[in-house]
Amino acid sequence: RAGADRAGEGRGEGLDSAELLGMAFLILVAGHETTVNLISSTLHGLLAHPDQLELLRGSPELVEGAIEESLRYHSPVHAAAFRFAAEPLELAGTRIAAGDAVLVSLAAASRDPAHFPDPDRFDIRRRARGHLGFGHGVHHCLGAPLARAEAVIALRRLLAARPLLAFATDPAALTWRSSTLLRGLVELPVRLG
Ligand code: HEM
Repeated sequence: RAGADRAGEGRGEGLDSAELLGMAFLILVAGHETTVNLISSTLHGLLAHPDQLELLRGSPELVEGAIEESLRYHSPVHAAAFRFAAEPLELAGTRIAAGDAVLVSLAAASRDPAHFPDPDRFDIRRRARGHLGFGHGVHHCLGAPLARAEAVIALRRLLAARPLLAFATDPAALTWRSSTLLRGLVELPVRLG
C-alpha cells in the first residue's frame, strides 16, 4: 500500500493499511475459534471424566489447573505455523537440510511421556504448565492471558450456575473437526439441568 498509509512513516515503523487489516484478521481468527474450542474441549474433558468434574466441583480453586490440563491434553492448536531451517540439523535421527520446512506438532509434544507421566490421562491436578498449547519462543501466543482468563471465567460461571450439567448425547457419537490445524468439537450438546 501507499507509504502515505504508514502511521510511522519516515521512522521505519508502523503498519500500512494492508498490514493492519492482516493483523486484525489474524487476531480475530487466532483468538476466536481457538478459545471456543478450549472452553468446549475443557467441558468435554470434565464430562467424560466424572471423577475430575466432581473434584473440580468440590475444589473450585482447581479451575486454572483444569484449563492448563485441557490445553495440554486437547491442544486446541495442533501444529505451529511452518518454520524453515536456517541451517542443517539432525533432530531425533531425522536430518533436516537448510531451508527445509518443519511442522512441529504441539499436540504431540504436550503428550510427551518424558515430560508428562501417563500423558493420556486427563488429570486437572497435574502440573501441566510447560505444555506447548500456546506455542513457544518469540511467536508464543499473544493472547494467552486473555484466552486463559476467558476460559476460567466461562467454566467457573457455567459450573456454578448449572450443578447438573451433563452430556445431552452419546459422547461416543461426538465429532471432532477434521482440521489439521485446530482441534475442537463440531458441537457439544449438553443438558443444562
Ligand atoms: C485457547 C486459545 C488460544 C490458543 C490455544 C492459541 C494458540 C496459539 C499458538 C500455539 C500460537 C503459536 C503459533 C506458532 O508458533 O506458529 C499462537 C500465536 C498467536 N496467537 Fe494464539 N491462541 C489462543 C488464543 C489467542 C487469542 C485470544 C489471541 C488474540 C486476542 C491470539 C492471538 C495470537 C497471535 C496474534 C499469535 C501470533 C504471535 C506471533 O506470531 O508472534 N491467540 N496462538
